[in-house]
Amino acid sequence: MDKLLISGGVRLDGEIRIAGAKNSALPILAATLLTRDPVQVCNLPHLYDITTMIELLGCMGVQPVIDEKLNVEVDSSTIKHFSAPYELVKTMRASILVLGPLLAHYGEAEVALPGGCAIGSRPVNLHISALEAMGADIKVEDGYIKASVVNKLKGAHIFMDLVTVTGTENVMMAATLATGETIIENAAREPEVVDLANCLVAMGAKIKGQGTDTIVIQGVEKLHGCSYSVMPDRIETGTYLIAAAATRGHIKVKDTQPNILEAVLSKLEQAGADIKVGENWIELDMHNERPKSVSLRTAPYPAFPTDMQAQFTALNAIAAGTGSITETVFENRFMHVHEMNRMGASIQVEGNTVIVTGVESLNGAPVMATDLRASASLIIAGLVGKNETIVDRIYHIDRGYECIEEKLQLLGAKIKRLPS
Ligand code: UD1
Repeated sequence: MDKLLISGGVRLDGEIRIAGAKNSALPILAATLLTRDPVQVCNLPHLYDITTMIELLGCMGVQPVIDEKLNVEVDSSTIKHFSAPYELVKTMRASILVLGPLLAHYGEAEVALPGGCAIGSRPVNLHISALEAMGADIKVEDGYIKASVVNKLKGAHIFMDLVTVTGTENVMMAATLATGETIIENAAREPEVVDLANCLVAMGAKIKGQGTDTIVIQGVEKLHGCSYSVMPDRIETGTYLIAAAATRGHIKVKDTQPNILEAVLSKLEQAGADIKVGENWIELDMHNERPKSVSLRTAPYPAFPTDMQAQFTALNAIAAGTGSITETVFENRFMHVHEMNRMGASIQVEGNTVIVTGVESLNGAPVMATDLRASASLIIAGLVGKNETIVDRIYHIDRGYECIEEKLQLLGAKIKRLPS
């Protein structure tokens, strides 16, 4: 298994470009199953999760064509199977996103039931109950969700008990081809849900209210092809900004979207960062000062994202003062804390909150990544650590960060991949 070797203590300084958003690219690739016309998806990030989704389409008989700029054209008219096997679902839970499109377009779908993962049990009950409310017959047997519908799905009034991002996306995609009107209440407002909705609209769907907690979809007879460019990745953007702040550095991130990062930028300002934004760039300068601790609480958008919680914990670990971080979205998302404490951090877990007392600096150590965002936080800890840190199990990071060591090297970091 590859590892990353980091020699800490360098202030990050420079400019990088942000890739397309993983969490918007995945549902958009799944949405190509809603039409038999070719759909071109541009600005796809170069990530394992994207490769897994392309492989998943491939094992259904759909052969996406990738050009040299990593634009993908998906023509799903060759589809033969309507099944997402366990082998792929277990490496990427977002495979569940093919359930709604397959059911709505082809009337049947079999998707392996995603198991628990490093950050909690993560059930998909809300996806299932919403599709049942739309007339689907769904059985969970032999580890698979087996879904079918006689004729077409029917529009329904759905109230989501919890705000779920992929749940909202699955139901929204299914509703585009259902008969009549579907209303999703307590819908996720994440920018990636809006990006998917905009792509569906470009395919001929009738959707209103995306970005609010009530999304209304009028089903149409069929969708058509389009060319769509995926929005920039706000989590990648935030991760580099936090890394620069932790190292007292100065960074400009380009090809991004500042207006969807308000909660994160406001916390970085509280931490002492001087932030300037343009239409598609963000510049952060710590003026070589130590960051100040901040307290925060994760919650669905527009609040502070859970996908940036671990990285902020790393920032607080070396900041001046004490800050508390409360995780309200996932039940077990503090695995990184124990690794940071092994590097000399002073972090206590109390239920779903961590109390972080900032220390002057961390000490390099061998550490192990447990999930995607935890890996990013351990890299940040390594960047601010004295001497060397080796981060093991970095396949997690390759799932969600494009060329992370090259981008950090561009900013001056001493980081290299140690192949297994
Ligand atoms: C998506 C993101 C992930 C992010 C998360 C929260 C993608 C591909 N992944 O994951 O990066 O961390 O949103 O912003 O977009 N829940 C249920 N039943 C369900 C569905 C969800 O109880 O049927 C619970 C989950 O266990 C969790 C909470 O709802 O506690 C939110 O999860 P959800 O928004 O569904 O996360 P994902 O869509 O899987």
